[in-house]
Parts: sequence; C-alpha cells; structure tokens
Amino acid sequence: MLRDVTGIRYVTPLREGGSVPGVVEADDLGTYVVKFSGAAQGRKALVAEVIAGELGRRLGLRVPELVRFDFDPVIGLGEPDEEIQDLLRASGGLNLGMDFLPGSLGFDPLVFGVDPAEASRIVWFDALIGNVDRSWRNPNMLVWHRNLWLIDHGASLIWHHNWKTAQTASAKAYDASDHALSRFSPRPAAAAAELAPQVTAELLAEVTALVPDEWLADEPGFGTPDDVRGAYGELLAARAADVHERITLAPVQRDRQPPPEWLRTWVEGKNA
Ligand SMILES: Nc1ncnc2c1ncn2[C@@H]1O[C@H](COP(=O)(O)OP(=O)(O)O)[C@@H](O)[C@H]1O
Ligand SMILES: [Mg+2]
Repeated sequence: MLRDVTGIRYVTPLREGGSVPGVVEADDLGTYVVKFSGAAQGRKALVAEVIAGELGRRLGLRVPELVRFDFDPVIGLGEPDEEIQDLLRASGGLNLGMDFLPGSLGFDPLVFGVDPAEASRIVWFDALIGNVDRSWRNPNMLVWHRNLWLIDHGASLIWHHNWKTAQTASAKAYDASDHALSRFSPRPAAAAAELAPQVTAELLAEVTALVPDEWLADEPGFGTPDDVRGAYGELLAARAADVHERITLAPVQRDRQPPPEWLRTWVEGKNA
C-alpha cells in the first residue's frame, strides 16, 4: 500500500508543466507535490504516475516517494487564481502526492553529466512505459544531492487511453531521439539484459496493486479493477521482452562541448 497522508496547508501551484500540481504540506510534517484528481489530464495520469513510478523504483531508479493524498479544497481557499481555485475545488478527496525534493534543480543535459549505464537504464525504462515526456525540452528529471531523480510519469502508458487499440499501439517503435539523455551514449539493449528479467508477473502484480480501486473502476470493457490491473501487467510484460529492439536513438554527437567553467562551479556549489 502507498502511505496515506492528509493535506493541512496549501502552499503554491507549480506552473512549469501542463497539469499545475500544487505544493501542499501534510499531517505527517512532510511537503508534497500533489497531482490533482480534478486536472484536465484525468485520473489515468494518476494511474500512470503510480504504475510507472513504483515500477521504476523497484528497478533501482530514483523516484520520490508516492503517497495517497487526501485533499480538502477548504485549505486552498486562499489561492487567488480562479482557474486553480476551480482545479482545487474539483479535487476533493483522494489525489496523488509525491515527496517534494527541496532545493532540487531541473536537470539540464548541458550542465550535468550522466553515467552511460544510468542513461541506458532510464532510456530503456522510458521505452518500457512508453514515456514521451522526457525530452531535452522538458526533461522531467531533477538533480538532488548530485543524483538524478525521475518525476512526472503522468503521460506514460499512453496506450491505456484506448484499450481496444492498446496492443497495436504498444507494438510501435519508441522514438528516443529527443530524449534528454540521448547525448550520454545510452545502450538500452544492455540495460534490457539487466532489467527485463526483473519485470516479472509478480512484480507487475505488486505494482498495479498499488493503484487505488477508484481510479480503475468503471473502465469500459473491463469488469473489475483487478481486470484492468491485469491488462496493465500483461502489456508491460510483453513490452519488457522486446521493446529494446524498437528504440530509435539519436545519432552519436561528436561535437559535445563541456559546460563553461563558471556554470559548472555554480551548479556544484548549489548541489554540494
Ligand atoms: N518531487 C518534486 N520535488 C520538487 N519539485 C518538483 C517535484 N515534482 C515536480 N516538481 C516541480 O514541479 C514541476 C511540475 O511537476 P510535473 O510533475 O513535471 O508536472 P506537470 O509537468 O504535469 O506540470 C516540475 O517541472 C518540477 O519543477
Ligand atoms: Mg512535467
């Protein structure tokens, strides 16, 4: 089970991406980035966050802790922006929280170096979950205490938006040419050899069990939430077996320039 926490103070919206999550303090004295159930992206974005995030964590990638976040819109009444006010009012009850990493920096491929083995694991993982949201324009990775952390998996598992065509959609190539880590010489086939055997039916059952029933209920074409969990599991198991054969990588960049000295020193100081 994911831990349950309750929001006690709404701090501020985060406007960088599309879904406008909020920074909210909770009754366990923690601070969380809350992905709201009332956001336009819908509950499937929350399902994707849980399945992808918890799968990545179990494969050894760094993902901030995810919690079931109970949000009462009353605590957000001080929010002056009317659109955000509407979002908060539409999100009473169960939402998804992610541990807030204080002082983290957005990953910049021109400034931070990434070990090719780690880049390989992340690119393979993104191919597995069909993540189109980790480009150099929008990396959705944070650097915290000098380590790379993965956030924002709401747009992954894209085939779940139409289960009827999910098999065909899932069999398509995964284009990693725009991936934020493509300049670090990823070798996803090597990562597949290490990670794919770990994506067992048991692991997928464990991960999909973490998705709250209410985000899976009434899915057209399925009986129970467990049937939907099974469909996620089967599809991911099939992808784990051969997705590395369908990854398009960017051509190797030979003109890679190191970042200027002043920038490197500044970043290292900030991350010390
Ligand atoms: N766990 C976290 N700790 C610190 N900052 C975060 C965290 N999660 C997200 N953020 C910040 O909030 C921004 C938006 O969050 P994100 O999950 O990418 O949602 P979206 O792109 O849908 O708006 C991120 O780009 C990042 O700057
Ligand atoms: Mg984002």
